[in-house]
Amino acid sequence: MSAPPTDTNQTPLLEMRAISKTFPGVVALDSMDFVLLPGEVHALIGENGAGKSTMIKIISGLYQPDSGEMLIDGDPVSFRGPADSIARRIKVVYQELDLVPGLSVGENVYLGAYPKKGGRVDWETLYGNTRELLDGLGLSIDPRTPVGELRVAEQQLVEIARALSQDARIVVMDEPTSALSTEEVDRLFRLIERLQERGVGVLYVTHKLDEIYRIADRVTVVRDGKHVVTTEISKTRPHDLVTWMVGRELTALFPKSTVERGPVLLQATDVSGEGIEHFDLTVHSGEIVGLFGLLGAGINTVARILFGASERTGGAIVLDGSTIKPNSPADAMEKGMGLLTENRKDDGLVLPMSVRDNMTLASLRQFARLSWLDSRNESEAATGFVERLSIRTPSLRQRVQFLSGGNQQKVLMARWLMRDPKILILAEPTRGIDVGSKAEIYRLMDEMAQRGLGIVFMSTEIPEILGIADRILVMREGRVTAEFDRSEATQEKLVQAAAVDPETSEAA
Ligand SMILES: Nc1ncnc2c1ncn2[C@@H]1O[C@H](COP(=O)(O)OP(=O)(O)OP(=O)(O)O)[C@@H](O)[C@H]1O
Ligand SMILES: [Mg+2]
Repeated sequence: MSAPPTDTNQTPLLEMRAISKTFPGVVALDSMDFVLLPGEVHALIGENGAGKSTMIKIISGLYQPDSGEMLIDGDPVSFRGPADSIARRIKVVYQELDLVPGLSVGENVYLGAYPKKGGRVDWETLYGNTRELLDGLGLSIDPRTPVGELRVAEQQLVEIARALSQDARIVVMDEPTSALSTEEVDRLFRLIERLQERGVGVLYVTHKLDEIYRIADRVTVVRDGKHVVTTEISKTRPHDLVTWMVGRELTALFPKSTVERGPVLLQATDVSGEGIEHFDLTVHSGEIVGLFGLLGAGINTVARILFGASERTGGAIVLDGSTIKPNSPADAMEKGMGLLTENRKDDGLVLPMSVRDNMTLASLRQFARLSWLDSRNESEAATGFVERLSIRTPSLRQRVQFLSGGNQQKVLMARWLMRDPKILILAEPTRGIDVGSKAEIYRLMDEMAQRGLGIVFMSTEIPEILGIADRILVMREGRVTAEFDRSEATQEKLVQAAAVDPETSEAA
């Protein structure tokens, strides 16, 4: 982190004055103020649905504000579309990437502004420059690789390379690290520092408070579409940020009761499938088993294989005495298994459908025999979960596509809770979720365990896995490398088991 800009008399790169934006039934921004100075990293934080992405979409020209004023370099502007925003050298890195999958990395980086020589595209320069940019990012990607062949994390870094190439003066990032590994986050942060040295202003949206303390100079908190506070990060403690965000004191983040272990509910023996070998797992009633691994360890594949959504090539899975058919999610669900995948857009959410119907989907389609769930009960149950998980929506009838990212995730979570499964597999259930709602999700998991459910909890975030799991398995390259009881697990042990190659390490 470089020294925060002290000269607050300098002309802001960007200023929002009393910006309001309303959607049917929702006030997304309510007279919001915001100032971005040259050379600063300014974090924007707030609960799910607070209005962060709406603000970014106004800056990027995607949305027009209903009222208020926006200034760039002191000039009032009114963007009619993204082209106007780009013309003012604003670059937005969305969480949903807007690269062209069929084009190469280099073509994407220079999209719309290919270097030319004698009227022709100068491919040598294009690929040479891209190579330099990628090297600077520590990325060993061939600039000629089609973007569609890259992992999401790599694509995200390419987006950022593109921001560099375009000589942006304002760079906006909406939860950029959600798919990145620790090393990739480090690289991204080094890059942000370089942008900063060039006087670029960076607006950074995240739910991860530790990131804010690593890179931000100032922070602005937004709650219910309103500006709460803007301050230098060095003058705050994480506790202050949380209190400003949720508007109240947050008590225990990890509620954890001692639950008597019941009989075995789930037994997976010698399971194999895509990149997974000899996977064994036992889950008892009342138990929360954590599964930890770095990106690429196979954690999410395991989740899908257990549920039958990815191919199982060997091994057996028994749930509460009955054998689960391989490759049949319907069978897994019927026998009492639920899966919340890490990928909410691809698996599960039906964007044009209402909040209520998305919640009750699994109950209706797969479990018509549970017809006691009449429509009124269903609405009552749905209302209950909207309150429990503080899902921000004007009504149960709102289409899920209009909910903020975190609130969409909560709807999926509610769907499985409503089904009352015996075993629930939760892959990254708190990704993109604000800290207040995270606590609520942990509390729900704790309650479910008390009621005798077995939970398999996959996470790449160590604090939450240490906070909530009874037992933790660590995976690396498709295999379980270690198992720890809650009482003995530490951050160091998990990291070591996840990263160190046992064959080459003397310590192991
Ligand atoms: N196009 C839209 N139509 C209707 N409502 C919308 C639309 N876009 C956003 N909203 C609503 O505006 C509010 C603010 O949403 P926004 O996406 O800005 O939240 P956010 O702070 O980015 O939350 P998250 O942390 O979950 O991403 C939410 O209540 C959301 O449902
Ligand atoms: Mg958002």
